[in-house]
Amino acid sequence: MAKYSIVILGAGNVGASLARVWLAAGHDVTFGVPNPHNDKTRAAVSALGGKARAAVNREAVASAQIVALCVPWEQAEAAIKASGDLAGKILIDCTNPLVSDLSGLSIGTTTSAGEQVANWARGAKVVKAFNTTGSPNFGNAQFGSQKAGGYYCGDDASAKAAVRELVDAAGFDPIDVGALRNARLLEPLGMLWIDLAVNQRHGVNQAFKLLKR
Ligand SMILES: NC(=O)c1ccc[n+]([C@@H]2O[C@H](COP(=O)([O-])OP(=O)(O)OC[C@H]3O[C@@H](n4cnc5c(N)ncnc54)[C@H](OP(=O)(O)O)[C@@H]3O)[C@@H](O)[C@H]2O)c1
Repeated sequence: MAKYSIVILGAGNVGASLARVWLAAGHDVTFGVPNPHNDKTRAAVSALGGKARAAVNREAVASAQIVALCVPWEQAEAAIKASGDLAGKILIDCTNPLVSDLSGLSIGTTTSAGEQVANWARGAKVVKAFNTTGSPNFGNAQFGSQKAGGYYCGDDASAKAAVRELVDAAGFDPIDVGALRNARLLEPLGMLWIDLAVNQRHGVNQAFKLLKR
């Protein structure tokens, strides 16, 4: 498997979980955050045994091959704008465009966060992934004899091949669901997971599986 230089924008639940599994797989990981020295970021770096570093977005992203967007939806445009030119890079969009009380999505049906991210990050190869289950399941995706599905979509075949490896490294069964416009379908799936886990109180030990025969 190739070793990638990955920048994770955001060092919260998703960013820290992905950093852990990707470092374990041998990739180079840097966090891109507004304040690399605040307590939250320092705690995230420290929890990884100092194997990751942190810098402001633009500095972190400069030499990255792959950038993972792991910020709240309201911060997504600012995080991209603060990263400078992302043209030619693989940009993994992990966001869900949630409304603040977790009752639904703020956009969808005729567009998606994934497509909006592609508009903001002109020339980046955007792949939607890691949005359909909770971060506690990243690197912890085995349910009995079954692996949870890791659903991803995008328009660039080589970018999707790289993301497939990263989905696999996080323990999921990688499932390519098509073009980036199918983020319109993956984001409601993420919302369904949140509704089950949080609003209906089923908790985080659940994930979606695609059965085939
Ligand atoms: N939580 C989950 O289980 C889960 C699962 C799948 C998808 N998602 C989606 O993933 C995204 C992140 O969720 P999360 O739970 O990880 O959020 P979180 O714990 O609140 O962490 C957000 C991180 O983003 C950083 N950030 C804010 N503005 C930024 C900017 N302009 N540039 C770079 N970093 C910035 C924050 O830094 P500061 O704290 O310093 O502001 C923080 O480190 C959301 O869109 C969410 O819907 C979440």
